[in-house]
Amino acid sequence: MCSVKSSKAIEALSLVKLSEPCQLVVLISGNGTNLQAIIDACAARTFPAKVAAVISNEPAAYGLQRARDAGISTHVIDHRKFDRRTEFDGRLKNLIDTLEPGLVVLAGFMRILGFDLTEHFLGRMMNIHPSLLPDYPGLNTHARVLADGMNEHGASVHFVTSELDAGPIILQKRIPVQPNDTPSTLAERVHQCEYEIYPRAIAWFATGRLHLKTSIAYLDGAPIKA
Ligand code: GRF
Repeated sequence: MCSVKSSKAIEALSLVKLSEPCQLVVLISGNGTNLQAIIDACAARTFPAKVAAVISNEPAAYGLQRARDAGISTHVIDHRKFDRRTEFDGRLKNLIDTLEPGLVVLAGFMRILGFDLTEHFLGRMMNIHPSLLPDYPGLNTHARVLADGMNEHGASVHFVTSELDAGPIILQKRIPVQPNDTPSTLAERVHQCEYEIYPRAIAWFATGRLHLKTSIAYLDGAPIKA
């Protein structure tokens, strides 16, 4: 006979089963280890999201193979085939719209997106960045952190706006910088942070706990402070 507790648990499980997972479109340019962490998280029966498709601007990105191995459809839009950035953005926007995702996830996507595209997906596009934003936007974050003698570093998930790496912060994880750290040892530890915080932020969004409203990210109705 089922106890009250276990029948409630069964009810909760069937609710999770009944509600549709949030469909993700993940944009990559390279190795795709964050994509892999997201695919792995989505494999859990109770995870509220599913990777519906992966898009890369780099035909040789290894992340495309990771997607194929997981049975996820892949698309390539090679930025070199477009004369103007706006044409590339337009093609990307149309493809994503066709796929009708609940959330667009940038995971090591190395193209700067223009205003029209970021406005179109405002509040439903996230990025992961290897620094404690607003510090160290842009490239080579690990080397710059070391050159500045910082004693802390980390990773940030944020909503995407038209300003590079400057959208409202959703979640960060910090790590201490060790005296013998190199850019590659730091990169490795920051990656581990990313694999933890990105799926968590996606799950918040997918369950309706996370919103962007008037340039502020809210979790459970309260503004998120970096
Ligand atoms: C990550 O460090 C991410 O923060 C940055 O690009 C890197 C992508 O790595 N935007 P991977 O392709 O997910 O391995």
